[in-house]
Amino acid sequence: MAASLIDGKVIAADLRARVAVEVARMKRDHGLTPGLAVVLIGNDPASEVYVRNKHKQTQAAGMASFEHMLPADVAQADVLALIAELNANPAVHGILVQLPLPKGLDTEAVIAAIDPAKDVDGLHPHNAGRLAGGLPALSPCTPLGCIILTKSVHASLEGMDAIVIGRSNLVGRPLVQLLLNENATVTIAHSRSRDLPDLCRRADLVYAAVGRAEMVRGDWLKPGATVIDVGITRVPAAEGKTRLIGDVAFNEAMQVAGAVTPVPGGVGQMTVACLLVNTLRAACAIRGLPAPGV
Ligand code: GUN
Repeated sequence: MAASLIDGKVIAADLRARVAVEVARMKRDHGLTPGLAVVLIGNDPASEVYVRNKHKQTQAAGMASFEHMLPADVAQADVLALIAELNANPAVHGILVQLPLPKGLDTEAVIAAIDPAKDVDGLHPHNAGRLAGGLPALSPCTPLGCIILTKSVHASLEGMDAIVIGRSNLVGRPLVQLLLNENATVTIAHSRSRDLPDLCRRADLVYAAVGRAEMVRGDWLKPGATVIDVGITRVPAAEGKTRLIGDVAFNEAMQVAGAVTPVPGGVGQMTVACLLVNTLRAACAIRGLPAPGV
């Protein structure tokens, strides 16, 4: 039997709509418009597309969107000065510096300069540490999206066997922490793991976040598993175009798994929607208001 598709497009649209309702309520009841500032340094074409998308969706949710474009050769001190300005700006509740940064800039120092209360990417050591300690924290958006997609299939993840393939700061590591918070049993696999197919076959929940096109094959999967594909590799397609491919061999997975996220139209859709959720949460926390209902 073919697996069912987990439709990230529909789930993300629903989440954005719920954020918009909360934003309207915050404006009406508290005169508060949540604001998100995005900093883009250099002109990486993929990053430009993401940033344009964030801008559009932030405005569509009724939030204020601030964009700051800096040249690739900007001085580190100028980046830090901009972040200090955004930290101090009361109209800004969330700050996201688009990664990767151009060569010559110190990514760790830039992230560390962001006020943790406005760190809607959840990358500041303060938030990463709180998440690892099981404390409430702003958490990275892609892992949050992965959890929401999984919960569209399983109301509870308690006691389930999960495998996270990939240990990046942006996805793998925080995803492990979020899964632990859900009481899943988590295996963390990576490029040095032995017998990856075997490890994978034990899992009820498979998260592939390595960035290697179609690495996870159908025969790596336990029948009925839920498969969340975080990978996006751009490959040449017909007529000089490109297309996106995930870390999972999609057609094979559909023959074995219970539910699979497509690429595109899966996890990617959720990241910006979760960024809006984090911005809303940050705005409430900064204002001393109760956490929003999304
Ligand atoms: N580049 C790709 N994904 C992300 C993300 O979630 N946050 C930031 N800051 N940069 C990214």
